[in-house]
Amino acid sequence: MNAPTSANVGVDATNVSSNRVSKSALSCSQHSIADAIPLRAITMTKPSIVGISGSLSDPSRTSVLVKAVLTAIERETGYASSFIELSDAAPALFQSRSPKDLSVTGKAFVHRVEQADLLVVGTPVYRASYTGALKHLFDLVDHRHFSNKPVVLTATGGSPLHGLMIDHQLRPLFGFLQALSLPTTVYAVESDFSNYAISNPDIEERIARVGVEASTYLKRRTNQANGSHEAPLAAIA
Ligand SMILES: Cc1cc2nc3c(=O)[nH]c(=O)nc-3n(C[C@H](O)[C@H](O)[C@H](O)COP(=O)(O)O)c2cc1C
Repeated sequence: MNAPTSANVGVDATNVSSNRVSKSALSCSQHSIADAIPLRAITMTKPSIVGISGSLSDPSRTSVLVKAVLTAIERETGYASSFIELSDAAPALFQSRSPKDLSVTGKAFVHRVEQADLLVVGTPVYRASYTGALKHLFDLVDHRHFSNKPVVLTATGGSPLHGLMIDHQLRPLFGFLQALSLPTTVYAVESDFSNYAISNPDIEERIARVGVEASTYLKRRTNQANGSHEAPLAAIA
C-alpha cells in the first residue's frame, strides 16, 4: 500500500544518467495458452530499462518522479535506462486507432515499450485514474510482450487521498497484461516537490527502496534469460 504522504527507431531517447529533464523524441484477462508464449525469447546481454511518463504537461512532476526512479535503478543495476515522454509520443500515437494504423514513429514508441525488460510507468492522477494518454499507449501494445515483465508503478496527484489509484486502477491494467507489477509503488503529491524537484526525504527513501526491489526482479529475469534455475528472491538480493 502506498503511504498517502503528502532506439530507438526514428526517435530520440533521453539517457536518464545524463540527468536531462528535457523531453525525449521519442478484454478481460482471458488470454489463451498460446498467449502465454513470449513473442521473443529473452536475450538479455544488456537489459532495456524504459521509463514512461503519462503526463502531457511540460514541465511535469510525474516525469521528474519517473526519472528519479530510473536513476535509482541505474545506480543499483549499473545499466543505463531511457525515458519516453508521452507528450512527445502522443501526436504519433493519437493519430492511430489501432496498431495497424501506427506510423513508423508510433511503431517505434510502441516497440520500445513492448521490448523493455523492465518498465517504470508513471501517471498523474486525472479524475481518480491514470491519464487517457497512457491508456491509449497500452491499448496499442501487443499484450503478449508483457507476460512476467517487471513493471514499477508510480503516480503523482493533487491529493494524498488518491494514492490508492495506483493499486485500484494502474495495477489492474498491468494485471490484464499479465505483467509483474512490483510490490512497492511511489505516490507523490505536489507538496513533495519544490520547483519540480523532489523535496520530501520520505519519497526519496521510497524511490531508493524501489531501485533495490526493481534491481532484484531484473536480476531474476536476467537469470531466466541466461537459463539458470530460478533462485529464491532472497538468494538473489
Ligand atoms: C484534468 C486533471 C484532473 C485531475 N484529477 C485529479 C484527481 O482526481 N485527483 C488528484 O489527486 N489530482 C488530480 N489532478 C492533479 C494532478 O494529478 C497533479 O497536479 C499531478 O501532480 C500533475 O502531474 P504532472 O505535473 O506530471 O502533469 C488532476 C489534474 C488535472 C489537470
